[in-house]
Order: sequence, then structure tokens, then C-alpha cells
Amino acid sequence: MKKCSIIIGSLRKNSNCMAVGKVIAESLEKADFEVVFPEIGNLPLFSEDFEANPPKEWTAFRGEIASSDCLIFITPEYNRGYTACLKNALDIASRPQGQSVWSGKRAGVISVSPGKIGGALALNQLKQVLSFLNVKQLHQPEMYIQADASFSGGMISEGLTKDYIKSYAQKYIDFVS
Ligand SMILES: Cc1cc2nc3c(=O)[nH]c(=O)nc-3n(C[C@H](O)[C@H](O)[C@H](O)COP(=O)(O)O)c2cc1C
Repeated sequence: MKKCSIIIGSLRKNSNCMAVGKVIAESLEKADFEVVFPEIGNLPLFSEDFEANPPKEWTAFRGEIASSDCLIFITPEYNRGYTACLKNALDIASRPQGQSVWSGKRAGVISVSPGKIGGALALNQLKQVLSFLNVKQLHQPEMYIQADASFSGGMISEGLTKDYIKSYAQKYIDFVS
């Protein structure tokens, strides 16, 4: 059984990104994956001053990523970039220097925003940083999703958008299998 960590770049209750994450998790679980959503909202902001004696939340998060076979990142767009909480999580698990737990993992990378371009600029910014971290990404289809009327209260109703997300989950399963 493969373990997949789905990392949600929004801390919002009823997050659209989490709604997408839940649809993908359902598909993965049907394909016998173990799915976890590592907490990133509790991670103290990264500072090199804490590296010698890291906060327990950093250690737990690094362990969760290290024990994952594969990853999915889902982020909203904030001011044409991806979110600060997600950057903080990426930085924390990239250290100590030479011991990054990201390197070599396979990942799906998704943006979700109500804007017309579905957070595509955040997506590309995130993909650039993941490339540096040596994360092997599923590049096609490019997955920027406009959060349309099918999104409500942290859920996605049945329809084209949900079907498209499920079809992406299948491509992701092929990519990591
Ligand atoms: C500080 C801030 C900046 C934002 N900037 C953008 C943006 O550049 N592009 C965009 O499409 N949406 C932008 N939004 C809207 C968010 O993408 C929207 O609130 C989204 O639903 C947040 O994701 P979530 O539903 O997963 O929490 C911004 C929202 C906030 C709070």
C-alpha cells in the first residue's frame, strides 16, 4: 500500500483546495492508497535560529513527509503567488541542509482559485520551487482549477469539474505506480 500526503496550501475552514483534496483522496483510497493530510497551520515560522533544536511540529512534519511514497500539493493563489503557509512547510522540510525529505518524491501539483486563470501563476511558481527541491512532478495535464459554482461549503457537487478532478486522480495513480 502506498502512502500519499496531500498538502493543502490553505488554512481556511471550507477551503476549496481541501474540497479538491477530498475528491482526489476518495479516488486514491479506492485504488488502495493510504491518504493523509499533514497539518501545516501549526508549524512555527522557519528560522535558522531554531535548526539546532527544532520545534516538535517541524520534526513531526518532516517525519510525515519522509514516510510518504508520494505527494500532492494543492494551493490557492494569493497575490499571484502560492501561499506563505505552504512556503513555510516547504522550507522546513527542506532542512537541515543536505537532508531534505522532498527530494526524489513524485507529486501532483494543483492550483484552485475563483479567479479566471484558476491560480495558474501560483501553480507555476510552486512548480519552480518543487523543481529545485528535486520533486518529480506530473506535468500534464496542467491542473489549474477555477473554483466555479460547483464549489460550496468545502464540497464539490457532481458535474464536469468533479469528473475532471477524478480523471486527474487516475492519471496521478498511473504516474506514481
Ligand atoms: C490575501 C489574498 C490574496 C488573493 N489573491 C488572489 C489572486 O492573486 N488570484 C486569485 O485567483 N485569487 C486570489 N485570492 C482569492 C483566493 O484564491 C480565494 O479566497 C480562495 O478561495 C482561497 O483558497 P481556499 O478556498 O482553498 O481557502 C486571494 C485571497 C486572499 C485572502
